[in-house]
Amino acid sequence: MGKETIVVLDFGGQYNQLIARRVRESGVYSVICSYRQDIEEIKKWDPKGIILTGGPNSVYEEGAPSYTTELFELGVPVLGICYGAQLMTHLLGGKVGTAPVREYGKIEVTVKNDTPLFEGVSDKTICWMSHNDYIEKPAPGFVNTAWTDNCPSAALENRDRNLYATQYHPEVLHTQEGTKMLSNFVHGICGCSDSWRMDTFVEDSIKAIRDKVGDGKVLLALSGGVDSSVAAGLLSKAIGNQLTCVFVDHGLLRKNEGDEVEQVFGKEGKFDLNFIRVNAQDRYYVKLAGEDEPERKRKIIGEEFIRVFEEEAKKIGAVDFLAQGTIYPDVVESGLGGESAVIKSHHNVGGLPDYVDFKEIIEPLRDLFKDEVRKVGLELGLPRELVFRQPFPGPGLGIRIIGDVTAEKVRIVQDSDFIYRQEVDKAAREYFEANGVEAPWMPNQYFAALTNVRSVGVMGDERTYDYAIALRAVRTIDFMTAEAADIPFEVLQIVMNRIINEVKGINRVFYDITSKPPGTIEFE
Ligand code: XMP
Repeated sequence: MGKETIVVLDFGGQYNQLIARRVRESGVYSVICSYRQDIEEIKKWDPKGIILTGGPNSVYEEGAPSYTTELFELGVPVLGICYGAQLMTHLLGGKVGTAPVREYGKIEVTVKNDTPLFEGVSDKTICWMSHNDYIEKPAPGFVNTAWTDNCPSAALENRDRNLYATQYHPEVLHTQEGTKMLSNFVHGICGCSDSWRMDTFVEDSIKAIRDKVGDGKVLLALSGGVDSSVAAGLLSKAIGNQLTCVFVDHGLLRKNEGDEVEQVFGKEGKFDLNFIRVNAQDRYYVKLAGEDEPERKRKIIGEEFIRVFEEEAKKIGAVDFLAQGTIYPDVVESGLGGESAVIKSHHNVGGLPDYVDFKEIIEPLRDLFKDEVRKVGLELGLPRELVFRQPFPGPGLGIRIIGDVTAEKVRIVQDSDFIYRQEVDKAAREYFEANGVEAPWMPNQYFAALTNVRSVGVMGDERTYDYAIALRAVRTIDFMTAEAADIPFEVLQIVMNRIINEVKGINRVFYDITSKPPGTIEFE
């Protein structure tokens, strides 16, 4: 600890991580704690300020999440957002009820800008509202500092006690001056300086890793994804060749990816570490032969990874630390941090592998959000293509080939996917150069998948009977829901032409327009 920290007290709102990220973007470290955590736990952070998140409940419902009023006696500024604002009001003697008019979406709010939260904010500003309840009567000592036509208490303050509240969501980008408001809270009201920066994070982490590891040995499973690559870069800077990275090429990576990872971390690269590449392609293809059931395929790929990694670990012998690329959302979502995601258990946290002889786990990125991990990657000098790599599932192309997996099908999907990504990236770059902003259709994840459909076609004078490839592109914020991206038809046509001409075995191209739900992003 020791650094200026804002505690985000989570009441189950969908934006809990967003609030914490925004605080960090304004240069202040933040952590997410669950409302189930005792106040003593909160105090241990020695917070400079506390933000209460939104949540799905009504404060007057039985069993609704609540908190001890001691929180407001700590002498630490508190900002309640949405449910957090209502809870603060309810606990401090005001009245919350069902709003006569439910507000949802972008709403114009009038603010009193001679107040600390709204310093430098316009008199009328667009804010993002989403509420059924509202504050009917402020708690004693509170005054309204912002309002809308239908909501008299869009924001409130009790300046003497340093308590602030907003009915709308300043963390959401639709709230046009939300970043300013949050910055006013953490800097102006809480008095935090700009102390959270990725260059100092790298320096501090290197020191912390050295202190922890001493002259011990560290083993890391490197997948080539962003998190494990940045972890490898950071560890290598800290402890050099006391680090051994095992990179298992399961033959289900994207085209050239295995070689790219080797170029960065292998002998020719600029990182000092022991890099072991295991070319296990054939082993995987043998194990997967004839298997077409998705969950079985996933299981086989996962189990085989453990076998291969275990064999390598045995050769290396006992190590002191097993490193993992766990990041902060993994920690929060496994229920160890905040509230909203006790839903999902994550393979990186909790379930420690028992097949490697090590004393302790080391997780150098455990405190970082994904965008921060990327910044650290750039600080460390990792190539941009690697740092901004799209999400890629652990089972790799194994779940982008419907039906059984063969080396031939892997080649087909790799080549098609390569062309597709090349053309989308090119079109996106051209759009950016022409317009100065990112293309509105730019997907967050896009890839080709091989369907199990074969159909008749003609090539020259020849009849063909080949596979159909499917192109997927989605726009999503959290990967829990997604919409198909409307990549321009001209771009898709170029991709179609190139795939049919350049990839042997494909004579038809489909574009998948399914949303999630009901679909998933991947095909299996
Ligand atoms: P779905 O297909 O569930 O994907 O809509 C949501 C996100 O998760 C990724 N994904 C996986 N990642 N192992 C992973 O590490 C997997 O088995 C897996 N399945 C899906 C997917 O790429 C998308 O980003």
